[in-house]
Order: sequence, then C-alpha cells, then structure tokens
Amino acid sequence: MEKVIDLRSDTVTQPTKEMREAMYNAEVGDDIMGEDPTVKKLEKMSAEILGTEDALFLTSGSLANQVAIMAFTNRGEEVIVGDTSHIYNLEVAAMAAISQVQPRTTKLVNGLYNIEELEGLIQEEGIQKAKTSLICIENTNNLNAGIVVPIENINEVCALGKKHNIPVYMDGARIFNAATALDVDVRDIVENVDAVMFALSKGLSAPFGAILAGSKPFIEKSRWIKQRLGGGFRQAGFMAAPGIIALNSMRSRLHIDHANAQILGKGLNEISGIDINLNNVQTNIVLGSIKDLNFTIDEFLERLLAYNIKAKRISSHEFRMVTHYGIEEDDIKYVIDCIGNIVKN
Ligand SMILES: Cc1ncc(COP(=O)(O)O)c(C=O)c1O
Repeated sequence: MEKVIDLRSDTVTQPTKEMREAMYNAEVGDDIMGEDPTVKKLEKMSAEILGTEDALFLTSGSLANQVAIMAFTNRGEEVIVGDTSHIYNLEVAAMAAISQVQPRTTKLVNGLYNIEELEGLIQEEGIQKAKTSLICIENTNNLNAGIVVPIENINEVCALGKKHNIPVYMDGARIFNAATALDVDVRDIVENVDAVMFALSKGLSAPFGAILAGSKPFIEKSRWIKQRLGGGFRQAGFMAAPGIIALNSMRSRLHIDHANAQILGKGLNEISGIDINLNNVQTNIVLGSIKDLNFTIDEFLERLLAYNIKAKRISSHEFRMVTHYGIEEDDIKYVIDCIGNIVKN
C-alpha cells in the first residue's frame, strides 16, 4: 500500500511495536479500587516528571481540562481563558454545560498573555458580578500554530493569580513540545501553576489518554470528579502501558518533528503563492496560507490528496500541517515538491 502522509494532526500517530507489546503484556487490576499497578506506575512517573505531588490518568485531554475546571470552580463563577484556546473553542462549551461556569476571554498576541489586560478581566463577587475563580493558560498554543509561551510570561500569570488568590491551570496538551523548543526541563515550565494536563496521544504517539497533575488534595478531588462523570477505569493498565513507553521513549525525539516542521515551513514559504509566518513555526505545527492562489482551500486539499498527502483546513485560505512520529524528512521533501507542482499547474 502506498504511504499516506497524514499531516492533519499529531493525533494520527500509530502506536509503536513496543507500545503494542506493552499493552499485551500489561499487568492490570481494578483501577477504581486502586488496584491497577500499571496505571499507578504511569501516574507516579508523570508526577515525578512534572514535579507535582500527584497525577491522574484520564481518557482524554478534554476530560482532563473539564475535570480540572470542575475541581477549581463553583457553579455561576467565571473562568478566564485565551481567545484561541482549545478549552474555549473546541470542547463543545463543556465548562458551561458541565461545570456551569462562564468563560471570559483574553487575547493572546504571539502566544503572550497580556498581564495588564488579564488583571482588568478579574472580577470579585458583587451584586451584579460573577467571581473569577480560575485562569486557564495553554502551552503550546494550538490554534496559534503550536506557539510556545515563554516561562517568564507563565510566571507573570501565576504571580497575578497568587496576588488575587486565583488558581492557574495549564492545558499543556503539547507541554513536551514546549519544553523541547525552550530546551528546558518541563518542571521549569509548570513550577508555578496550580495544575497541568498533558496528552499522551499527540506527539508522544500513545494511542490513548491524558494526565492531569497537581497537589495531592487537587488530584484526590479530581479522581472523585472523574468517577462522578463516569470516567472511572477498571483494567486500564492496557491503556496506561503505552503511555509509560511514550514517556520513556518518545519525549526525546520531539526535536526531530520540530526540525521537520522547520524544513517544511521554509520549503513551503519559498513557493510563490504560499505564505508561512516562519516566526510562528516554533514546534511541530506549520500554518500556511494560500490567499494568493487561484483555487480554494478545499481544492488545494483535494489536489494534495491526489498525491496521498493529508492536511487540515483551518479557514477559507489557511491549512495546517503537523509533523509527528512516522513522518520522515524525505516525506517532508516530497510534500514540498508536490505543493510546488500543484501551484505551478
Ligand atoms: C491544546 C489542546 N488541549 C486539549 C486538547 C484535547 O485533547 P483530546 O483530544 O485528548 O481530548 C487538544 C487536542 O488537540 C489540544 O490541542
């Protein structure tokens, strides 16, 4: 079968042979009863890597985000979120539907949180006002093309949170991409946040799951909320086992995806009619525009498909390509050549 170069997302990664074997061989038990040794191992490992007191294994990043929001808030309160965040845009209004809290958005410019604007959005409870009970940040910023939020900016947000007694939660679905790009230990990024989530099933290539991490009391409450929402596991060690491999083997290869994204971004930017903002290619995501071409984005994606290349439609003139495990440098060169041909013809 001819190889399909699927660049729509890093969620399309296939588990490695080692992950499949680990799943088959996993030692398992009833996790709701606290008896699954593989889940426990993954949770302990995750907490150690992040430098938090405890961690919790969940089915998805979205569930981890929503459990965190529910743990930190009460009905009728407000949560500050980035205007381009996954929590605000791509979680089916879950915070309103499940926790019954209201989002208030802050604008991110080049991945930076504006501290002055953020402070202006904070509300104290009043006769007409809902109390701000949580600030959510995201690193890397996905809708902003995988932009890295600098540690100084994160720490400024956290200091603001402390000043107003408001916890700060980080959606770190791609936190290891951020750590790779910044060339720091992930602990340095999350040191001051109150809780953080990361995904196992994106760049780390596990087939399943996310980790929520924070203090012991926060994780205890989150475990209880996970159970209340029907997210409790039984023999989930089968799903945790590839997560352990992901943490052990896949973090150290993310720089390859970043290097491939650079090659892709630069190569595409040299093609007349394709525009890439190279300043924003900071991790494994390349956001491209075809504004200056004579065909629509859907036609462009269809033409790509004829070459066995898949990309994601972002807007009427923008597409996204994400590099990941399974995509080699030769694939990237092939993609650049094919797009060159598409544009010429
Ligand atoms: C920044 C961010 N947060 C959360 C999620 C949700 O993760 P999941 O697909 O596991 O629910 C995603 C998924 O792409 C994401 O990019």
